[in-house]
This record gives sequence, structure tokens and C-alpha cells, in this order.
Amino acid sequence: MNQKRVLSGIRANGRLHLGNYLGAVKGMLSLQDNPDYETFYMVADLHSINVPYEPLGFRQAVREVVLDYLAAGLDPEKSTIFIQSEVPEHVELSYLFSTVITVARMQHLPTFKEKVKAYPENVNMALLYYPVLMAADILAYKAGLVPVGIDQEPHLEIAREVAQKMNDRYGLALPEPVRFATPGEYVPSLTGAGKMAKSVEGSAILLTDSLEDIKGRLAKLPTDSGKGGSVPTEGGVSNLFKFVELFLGEGRVNELRKQYMNEGVRYGEVKSEVAEVIYKELKPMQEMRAELEKDTNKVDKIITEGAEKARKVASETLQEVKQAMGLV
Ligand code: TYM
Repeated sequence: MNQKRVLSGIRANGRLHLGNYLGAVKGMLSLQDNPDYETFYMVADLHSINVPYEPLGFRQAVREVVLDYLAAGLDPEKSTIFIQSEVPEHVELSYLFSTVITVARMQHLPTFKEKVKAYPENVNMALLYYPVLMAADILAYKAGLVPVGIDQEPHLEIAREVAQKMNDRYGLALPEPVRFATPGEYVPSLTGAGKMAKSVEGSAILLTDSLEDIKGRLAKLPTDSGKGGSVPTEGGVSNLFKFVELFLGEGRVNELRKQYMNEGVRYGEVKSEVAEVIYKELKPMQEMRAELEKDTNKVDKIITEGAEKARKVASETLQEVKQAMGLV
């Protein structure tokens, strides 16, 4: 059987939220369950240390992402689950790839510019290197499909450029990876502006939140009087409607749109309805997580075996690339 390869990863800079779940993990799950694909899912710990972070307890934070993965349904019988830094081939490959991409190209990426704005005191080399390492993560497995949110598109473009240039220059046959999109490819923030993000206070619903937590967080989502000429296309109301669409479906949003233009929307009730369905989806994961937390040995074993399996594939690719580049 000639399975197509898939790779994805999530950083360990905070607990997983609904954006990570709907934009990435749901896609990871659906590809894992499709026998046409061989899936590799990692925790991107090396991508987490280019911003200020706390080394004490970091390894635990990385483990928490593994637990979130398993609790969400990633299955070590079907997917290779591993920690990025335990497959050092990624780093070596990224250095080789960095020879075909210019500094200017990296500096102009929107994601790099955002980080420069957020951490002007900490514009380190690793930030600039970010997309090259990500290209290595993907191409080490010759993965053609990458389940990630829409915000990762500029990084995938770099991965495609790297593949193209390596193929042209060295006669390799690396695939040009494309994004596997889900309906939740862009989950908005609870602040009413931008996307849900780990780094923005009050913007996220965490996968570990209780029903009360979720209700409390949604209560803070800014709304309006509930009535008007046309339904807002941005801001808190628009974001609330997006959550309704994602969790209750298009039909329910259309009802609310009609209400907005007629008798008015009662936001308190809508928020409570949304909170209930979100919690219904999270609850089984939380129960599974509580079980896994007790089983340290099982999780350790998954992590060790995952790295072994991943290294087998990544080291083959690394060898091929070194050969093509005349290094061996
Ligand atoms: P990270 O940790 O920022 O985000 C993890 C995944 O969650 C998605 N995501 C969202 N999707 C929809 N709506 C949102 N509000 C939202 N917020 C986050 C992201 O698109 C991502 O899929 N660079 C990656 C990690 C990485 C990686 C890789 C991914 C490193 N190497 C190789 C794929 C392949 C990142 O920072 O993800």
C-alpha cells in the first residue's frame, strides 16, 4: 500500500485551545482515521523556545500537549506521536535547507514581523529560522499534506519553496506540501478582535475548561443591543455567530441573523446554548485526559516509541539529502 504522508505539530507555549482543536487537531484526527494516509504528529518544542519561556517545567508543558493529543483521540496505534527535539534530524535538515532560502525572504514573512513587534527585545536567530525548521519538520517525512489553521499558510509557502529549490538544485523529489483545511481553519478571539491565540489574554477557551469556565469566558465576549439594520461582519457579534456556525450549524446562524433584523437576539441565551455544546464536545476529552494523567508509564512509552519510529523515516530523508548535496 502506498500511503501518503501527513505531518503536523503544535507548540508548547500554553494549554491547547479551541482554535488549535478546530483548526489543527480535528484535521489531524480525520487524516489519522483515513487508511490512505500515514500520519506523524509532533509537539514542536523547538519552535516554542524562540520567545521568552520558563525552562523549569518546560518539559512538563511539552508532555501536556502529548496528553491533549491523546485525550483528543490521536491514537499511537494509528499515528506516530513524538516530540520534535527527540528527532534531531529535523535540525540538521533545516540547516541544509537554509542554504537555499534568503534572509530577505524570511524577514518579509508576516509571522516574523508580528513577532518582532511583540518582542522587540528578543529578535533572535531562531525566530528568523522558524519557517526553515518547519519546512524540515514536514519534508523529513516527505509529507504532502499538513493539517493546520489558515495562519500557517505563509509557512507552508516557504516549505514549498524549499522543496522546489532543493529539487531543482540537487535533483531530489521532495513533495510540495499543501494545507489540509477544516471548517474551523480560523477560530476568532473572544476579545472580539483577531483570532483565538494562546498569547492574547481573554481570547481563548481551553480544552480543559469546565462548563462554568466556558460560560464565564463567553460572557465577556462583547456584543451590542441585539438589533439593527444589518448583521455586523466583524467584532464580538460576528465572532459569536461564527461559534454558533461551528458548533450549532449554518441553520441556527441564519435564524439568529433574521432575529437580529427583526425582534432582536438575546445574547445571554445564545451564549449559554453555545457554551453547552462546546462543553459537550470537550467533556469526553477531559475524562480521557484524567485517566491518562494517572498512567505515566503508558505516556512515556508512547513518547519513546514515537521518536524511534519518526527517526527511522527522518534519518533516511536526511541521508538522501546529504548524498544529493555531495556531503557523503
Ligand atoms: P501553533 O502552536 O501556533 O498552533 C497550532 C495549530 O493550531 C492552529 N491554530 C488555529 N486554527 C484556527 N483558529 C485559530 N484561532 C488558531 N490558532 C492556532 C494553527 O494553525 C496550528 O495548526 N508553526 C506551528 C507549529 C509547527 C508545525 C510544524 C505545524 C511547527 N512545525 C510542521 C505543522 C507542520 C505553530 O506555531 O502552531
